[in-house]
Formats: sequence, structure tokens, C-alpha cells
Amino acid sequence: MKELLKNLVEIPAPSGYESQVRNQIREWIEPLVDEIRVDQLGNLLAVRKQAAAPRLMLVAHMDEIGLMVTHVDQQGFARFVPLGGVMPIHCVGGRVRFLNGVQGVIGVEKNPSSYEIPPIEKMFLDVGASSVDDCPIKIGDVAVFERPFLDLGKRVVSKAMDDRVGVAVLIETLRQLKKSAFELYFVFSVQEEVGVRGATVAAFGVEPDLGIAVDVTATGDTPKGHRMEVRLGRGPAIKIRDAGMLADPRLVQWMVQTAEKAKIPYQREILEFGGTDARAIQLSRSGVPAGVISIPCRYVHAPSEMVDMEDVENAVKLLLRLLQTHPRLERED
Ligand code: CO
Ligand code: ZN
Repeated sequence: MKELLKNLVEIPAPSGYESQVRNQIREWIEPLVDEIRVDQLGNLLAVRKQAAAPRLMLVAHMDEIGLMVTHVDQQGFARFVPLGGVMPIHCVGGRVRFLNGVQGVIGVEKNPSSYEIPPIEKMFLDVGASSVDDCPIKIGDVAVFERPFLDLGKRVVSKAMDDRVGVAVLIETLRQLKKSAFELYFVFSVQEEVGVRGATVAAFGVEPDLGIAVDVTATGDTPKGHRMEVRLGRGPAIKIRDAGMLADPRLVQWMVQTAEKAKIPYQREILEFGGTDARAIQLSRSGVPAGVISIPCRYVHAPSEMVDMEDVENAVKLLLRLLQTHPRLERED
């Protein structure tokens, strides 16, 4: 699985420009599904048919945060806007790679205090050009952060764990899955990082009875870090709440009971910020029960996001078990 993950994270796919990673995923999963298509926004939808079974939409987003060029000056320096939640603290001195292969570094205007974090408006890209005429990038070009995959053994690091690790979990689940209790839509969504746009239209098109997103979540296990219960290596996290959703309590219960029965380690997740594609599913049509299996991830949205391979493997195990049973959806009131 590490190899699969490494391959996935090294393909650049900033929000709205996911075609390279989509083509690769399609090539891998096409033989494993009954039907596959790409919708008008670019979501990849793969179906495992099952007549008369409830329809479950599983989603992981293909896009990663990046940046887009807004202006190139006479000296060939480019200004940019973030694509998704890029944090200024991670930018200066960083390197980027454009989809056309051009690489560059991020510089910053003279800073009043070197202890201050400059805003992105004060930063620029230097791709080694000396004038606007020999600058190999133009307005609208998009780039991702450049950082090689790092293998630390049990733990691995990349600039795009969010959410290529979710994509890897869905692909591996598809590879191992024999029977299921659902008609399954595996959705690899676009434009999550700019406001869950791909999943919004995918949920509309798929019309699922249930939805599960697989995405990363933050942890509280680093020095003087965020106060949060989730830790690396303690198992996949079952989301109860983030800033965008209250996970359906019936699905939370289903996930918890399934994990306990199968003796798969899990954690209960409350995230005080952020959101996932599950929000778009939950709020689609007249409402759809939705939940999230989260992969604990340190340094989310920094160019070095870290996950633990055991959590990744256990997320696949949990998902495979979940696909064998239906949740109880009756209301007690
Ligand atoms: Co993200
Ligand atoms: Zn994500």
C-alpha cells in the first residue's frame, strides 16, 4: 500500500486540475468495477452494481492545495493566489512545481520584522526568469508544492497526504472487496480544497442513500499542539463532528460497533475546524445520512503531512467490514 500511496502523492493535482491523477486512478480501477465515468466537473465515478441494495457513495478527493499565478511583472516575478487552505507560515523558501514542469521558489518582499509572518500578497514566485518575456509561466498557471515523498518506516510524509491517502484507501478497498451489502459508488472528487465543489455535484448525480468520505483529520499529539484527542497510530478516526458537519449519529454508531466487533482500533474524532466532502453528501437532495472515516494526519496543509501506515491499513479493514452490513436507520422517536 505504501507503494500505491507513493505513486499517488507524486502526481500533481491542484484543485480544478486533477486530470493526471484521475487518469492514473482510472487505469488502476477500471478492471475492478462494472461502470466508470467522469462527470462534467471532473469527478471520477466508479460503480460496483448490486441490484436492490441501498446505494452507498464513498468519496475521497483527488485535489491538493496549490497556487495560481495572478500577475507576472517586468522582471519575471510572479504573484499568486492560494488554491485552497495554503498557510503563509509554510510558504516562504518553499518550492513549487507547475503542471508544465516549471519549478520555482517562493520569495518575499522586505519584511518589517523577521518574526512576523508575511501575508501571501507580499510573496512572489521566482522561476529563474529575468524578464516577463523569458518567463515560462503566465497568468492562470497552477502549481503544487514541491516536496518528495518521505518514507520513515511506519510513518510516511508527503505534501499531498490530504487526500491522496483517502484515494489510496478507496483503491485498496476496491481491490480487496468481494461481496458487499450495497450498490457502491466510488467517487474520486475534484475541488474539495476550494469548498467541496466536486462532491456537491457528485452527490446530486449519484443520489446515494448513504455517504462516507475518507479524508485526513488533524491530531493533538505534537509538542504544545492543538488540544485534540486523535493521535497517529491509534487507528482510523470515526468523525463525530467538524466545523462543517455533525456526522449522522446512526452511522457513527454503526462504525463504532463494527470496529469493536472486528477488533479494529479506532478513535472518536471531534475536529474544531475544517470539513470534508461528507458535508456535501449530507446536505444533498432532502438530506442523506453521512459519515467520515478519517486518517489521522500531522501537519495538515503543510508541505510535509505525516500519516501512520497502520492507520491506513486499519481504515481499509474497517471499510471492508462496514460494506458487509447495513446501519440501523430507524428513528427512535
Ligand atoms: Co485539505
Ligand atoms: Zn482533505
